Amino acid sequence: MKTIDVCLTPRLIPDFKLEDKVVVVVDVLRATSCMITALAHGVERILPVATLEEAAAQQNRGLITCAERDGRKAEGFDLGNSPFGFMDPHLAGRTIAMTTTNGTKSIVLSRHAACIVVGGFLNLGALARYLTVKNKDVVVVCAGWKDRVNAEDTLFAGALAAKLADRFTHANDSVLLARSCWEHNRANPKHFLAKSSHFARLMGFGLEKDIDFCLREDVYHTVPVLDAEGYLVAR
Ligand code: MLT
Repeated sequence: MKTIDVCLTPRLIPDFKLEDKVVVVVDVLRATSCMITALAHGVERILPVATLEEAAAQQNRGLITCAERDGRKAEGFDLGNSPFGFMDPHLAGRTIAMTTTNGTKSIVLSRHAACIVVGGFLNLGALARYLTVKNKDVVVVCAGWKDRVNAEDTLFAGALAAKLADRFTHANDSVLLARSCWEHNRANPKHFLAKSSHFARLMGFGLEKDIDFCLREDVYHTVPVLDAEGYLVAR
């Protein structure tokens, strides 16, 4: 049987041997939810970059850019980090360069994995099916917040581990913690997350609509996969 493991914060990535594993990067609020939404709405490719400078360089090359820092759109770029911004039909067929506080950084730090895919509640079922077919050991990398553990990504890791329970054994106790978090709160995730830090931050910016959308399950069948050139494409 294959294993599933959970890396609770990007700070712990160096402790994981990712070379022969599928990494699922998750930043429920909101980076990976935006990536799923963008590709589901016809964006052709997403180039995740770690810094604002790299995003600006891609903007100079003519790419559309999405840049977020501390929950807000970074000055001078085309898009912020709201999933609703990626539903614009004008973005269909385009390539977007994207940088966010935690989500894109986690993708960049996981780049030595055998395969990187992107998850969120929006594609939970499709992702579980993809991982079952792939049949390799899985590590869920929670983007967290500035190297700290966060509630929403841990909750999602638990939801995914629960979906895969018949086919993947737990690699260690972080999976147990994530599963327990999910089992106790699956009936009302928003109620649980209402006590969490990024929830409060986004609510402070008037972004409850974004939170509600990102917590919806199985809205899309799209699974973003990082290709050999470093772009996320739909699978
Ligand atoms: C991130 O990558 O840190 C988040 O997506 C932040 C946000 O909610 O915009």
